[in-house]
Amino acid sequence: MKPDFPVFLHGGDYNPDQWLDRPDILEADVCMMKKAHVNAVSLGIFSWSRLEPEEGVYDFGWLDGVMKRLTDAGISIALATPSGARPAWLAQKYPEVLRCGPDFQRMHFGERHNHCLTSPVYREKVRAIDAALADRYAKHPGVILWHIGNEFGGECRCPLCAEAFRGWLRNKYGTLADLNRRWWTDFWSHRYTAWEQIEPPSPAGDQCNPSMRVDWRRFVTSQVRSFIEMERDAVKAFNPALPVTANLMERFWDYDYFELAQAIDVVSWDCYPAWHGADDLQRAAEFAMNHDLMRSLKHKPFLMIESTPSLVNWKDVNKLKRPGMHLLSSMQAVAHGSQSVMMFQWRKGRGGSEAFHGAVVSHDGRDDTRVFRDVEQVGAALERLTPVLGEERKAEVCLLFDWENRWALDFAQMGRRGAMQYFDTCVRYYRALWERGIAVDLRDMSEATDLSGYRLVVAPMLFMFRNGMDERLRRYVEAGGTLLVTYLSGIVDADDLAFLGDAPHGLTDVLGLRAEELDTLYPGETNSLKLEGGVSVPVSRYCELPEDVSARVVGTYGEDFYAGHPCLTVNSFGQGKAWYLAAEPDTEQAMRTVLARVTEELGLTAALPETLPQGVVATGRGRAVFVQNYTAETQTLWLTDAWRDLITGDVRQGTAVLPPYGVWALMKADGEQA
Ligand code: GLA
Ligand code: ZN
Repeated sequence: MKPDFPVFLHGGDYNPDQWLDRPDILEADVCMMKKAHVNAVSLGIFSWSRLEPEEGVYDFGWLDGVMKRLTDAGISIALATPSGARPAWLAQKYPEVLRCGPDFQRMHFGERHNHCLTSPVYREKVRAIDAALADRYAKHPGVILWHIGNEFGGECRCPLCAEAFRGWLRNKYGTLADLNRRWWTDFWSHRYTAWEQIEPPSPAGDQCNPSMRVDWRRFVTSQVRSFIEMERDAVKAFNPALPVTANLMERFWDYDYFELAQAIDVVSWDCYPAWHGADDLQRAAEFAMNHDLMRSLKHKPFLMIESTPSLVNWKDVNKLKRPGMHLLSSMQAVAHGSQSVMMFQWRKGRGGSEAFHGAVVSHDGRDDTRVFRDVEQVGAALERLTPVLGEERKAEVCLLFDWENRWALDFAQMGRRGAMQYFDTCVRYYRALWERGIAVDLRDMSEATDLSGYRLVVAPMLFMFRNGMDERLRRYVEAGGTLLVTYLSGIVDADDLAFLGDAPHGLTDVLGLRAEELDTLYPGETNSLKLEGGVSVPVSRYCELPEDVSARVVGTYGEDFYAGHPCLTVNSFGQGKAWYLAAEPDTEQAMRTVLARVTEELGLTAALPETLPQGVVATGRGRAVFVQNYTAETQTLWLTDAWRDLITGDVRQGTAVLPPYGVWALMKADGEQA
């Protein structure tokens, strides 16, 4: 796998525009960056008002100087387009660039990430500044990447956006009759007789129609995509070879990231786990899955373009990273395919809402702090990890994870309404595999998804089937794959209309059953799944009731009126096997037990063959294996083979001791020359 960069990038958001009256600080920055092994910065993300102080009047002088100083020091630049935050003059002169909220009221100037992305004025002003920047810097020797805007998020309900939504709908449906049919508008007498009657869904208007809401999310995704493409094309016109990224976020569901990823060359994301809470292992599992999701968006290495060296300032409780955690969490990103460890922020500003957000350099201006040393350590480690850069993380397991499915579940008035927990449920399945060192790709239902290379496909709560998913899953099993589907699967089509006939739609013969009823349990309530062989595990949240079961019953319900009813089944179909799990395993142990049963005969490859202590996880990236201790205790492991730890250079074999929050980056000791 050819990486996008020759070395791991190490650095972060650099905001010299806040210090233009302090040349001494700008000078010191570069010296301290060298000391911290910083080799790349994201520059100019919020610099618009300094770059274009008046409409059409550009000032690049200060940026020229900053870029020269960085480049002379060998520090590369991810140059931002400044579209994340707009200057006041722009909002004052062209109010249409300001967003309208869910109540359709226009916002006032302030904050950031809150522009109308439909506004032709906003698009034109952004295109102009982007072109000016690219004209000047697209061939600058220090620039290695374009950083488009910042954390695209939210949506606008202004008249321009409403009109664009209607245009998008006209294009999709052609006729109102078709829209009325596929939006099921005879319900509550909502039939539209003119396109102008349709408004964006909102709490001030209509937000009860799930089909409409899914379409709105698709429309918003397409607006943001076209905006990013506009920016991409503006800068690429001056140097098509320079790659572009846009930094994505965790737990962000408003736009379909699989689709947005099509607009950029490299996926990057901002990674802010809240460590040292109730369960670090759970946190680590969730962020492992986030990293794998980002890797899977384009099926190639990504960038962790933001993380904190110490703490953030926007959670309710902002805790420090304990000693070891900065290296450990940075290595987690690398293990899952990151090409960088970048941080927010290089230096704390004196004012503004992020003056107390963690930074490499604090208000004391020192380079001998604990945080600074942690950052130096990561930078030095990354330099030694260059052999890992071209290593590809390969997976035998695919977890189907789909944004549109998430929307459909969220908008469905059923079950645990408003708390369907699709993502958290996926994390639970992911965790049970990740803990065993099994690599997982995440794929959605788009046409590009090819399941044929996977040995196991796990599809939790796949409520919506789109793009012929039932057919594709059938072919996958027929050809020899192993599939796990759960309760709440194959219920609605791509229009978010319920399928008529037996569920899961199109798969009843593949699974050897049909799902007839769904019971929702109260919080805290459980049933049990009694497995063949006598083991019983608790189940909770949802209990589906399959009927006409011709599949082999592997486990049955323990309680309630459906005691004895099938709960876990497996069906041979073609060359493969289709598992069906009717209820949600309640505990992590229950999940491990069920997934162990499902994967028993597959012999999936783990990063390390040894059994590791609870809280220690091994993650494979090609020939490299990252062993991570997510506990505050020292852990003792057994390594059968000899491995070299690339971070320290030590050879580890036999009994080996991993300190609290410790991490090793192992490669086979004899494989180094390979
Ligand atoms: C986000 C933003 C940054 C900064 C950090 C703080 O990731 O992109 O500009 O606000 O959060 O954690
Ligand atoms: Zn708008």
